[in-house]
Amino acid sequence: MEMADCKTRRLVVDSGRPDASLIRAAGVALREGGLVAFPTETVYGLGANALDARAVAGIYRAKGRPADNPLIVHIDSPRVLNRYIDQIPPVVWRLAARFWPGPLSLVLRGGGIFPPEVTGGLDTVAVRVPAHPVALALIRAAGVPVAAPSANASGRPSPTTAAHVLDDLAGRIALVLDGGPSGLGVESTVLDLSGDGPVILRPGGAIRQDLEEVLGPVEVDPAVNGNAVAGSRPRSPGMKYTHYAPRAPLVLFEGHDPGRVAAGILADAGRLAADGRKVGIFAYSETAPLYDGKGYSVVVAGNRHEPDSVAALLYASLRRFDRLGVDVILAEGIAPDGLGMAVMNRLRRAAGGRVVTV
Ligand code: TXA
Ligand code: MG
Repeated sequence: MEMADCKTRRLVVDSGRPDASLIRAAGVALREGGLVAFPTETVYGLGANALDARAVAGIYRAKGRPADNPLIVHIDSPRVLNRYIDQIPPVVWRLAARFWPGPLSLVLRGGGIFPPEVTGGLDTVAVRVPAHPVALALIRAAGVPVAAPSANASGRPSPTTAAHVLDDLAGRIALVLDGGPSGLGVESTVLDLSGDGPVILRPGGAIRQDLEEVLGPVEVDPAVNGNAVAGSRPRSPGMKYTHYAPRAPLVLFEGHDPGRVAAGILADAGRLAADGRKVGIFAYSETAPLYDGKGYSVVVAGNRHEPDSVAALLYASLRRFDRLGVDVILAEGIAPDGLGMAVMNRLRRAAGGRVVTV
């Protein structure tokens, strides 16, 4: 992970009217091989020129990312897709019309133009058109497709603000464009179109029900819910790594009855506190008052019945526990419906198998 220290510049950009000269300069830096972190509607990305193997290799160094975990290529319009992909199944155009720009990444064959640093050596490539004015302006200014993973250090919660990017990557990248908080808060849905039928490899901002309106039935890869078949190779290499994790171990409590979930958490919290451990609790507005006045560090991550509110606060909430310096985090789950599927996928991954069903 050694890399010559550099000073990271943070430049504030007005998302409504991105400053043209600033974007132009950042675009040139990208095209010429630099790394630029930028806001998208999902999370902040760490961009490099996707046609420049050396530049892309820099992403892996900056993040400490395993080399076999491929990157998503960002383009500014579906119209340029056929410049980079030789085999475009017709369904792509129907999905693009409905979901792009937006939080849907499509895994396609025929992207041989991209170096193996982008594809992780696979014979497919993931592509999306982000729905953030700064991201779109930057890609346009770069004039090249932009490979961009989430701009966190590998394994850490994804960044939804420029401050999160700096927490992880200051001194390792040249520039972060600060366009304020990402609105959605979870990454794009990764949808594999390279096989017989469409398969969700990572649930995200584009929800299954909406995809099914265009595609009919959509499968979800078994690895998504932590059911990776032993010994099998996940179709999305990213799924095999512990991920999205705050510094303290996180235990996830799942169950239909919020009262029972809270009771389970309170029982464990009491035991842990009696052992002298500083307990963090990841809760929602409905249940948060139940934990009051007991000395726990409670973080309220939205409203359990509005998964969008939880998604928007998810990563900032996980990162908050680092600042609070807790020894352990007890987290409430939500129903895995709509955007809740993405939220629960991230919480289960952050728990790394420490899941209690109540
Ligand atoms: O919302 C997002 O998608 C954000 C923003 C910055 O656009 N990007 C993002 O990238 O989340 P990253 O690198 O953190 O996650 C990419 C995911 C990984 O799970 C990776 O394994 C999967 O996409 N992926 C990329 N290319 C793939 C491919 N060819 N086949 C299967 N999975 C692929
Ligand atoms: Mg990521």
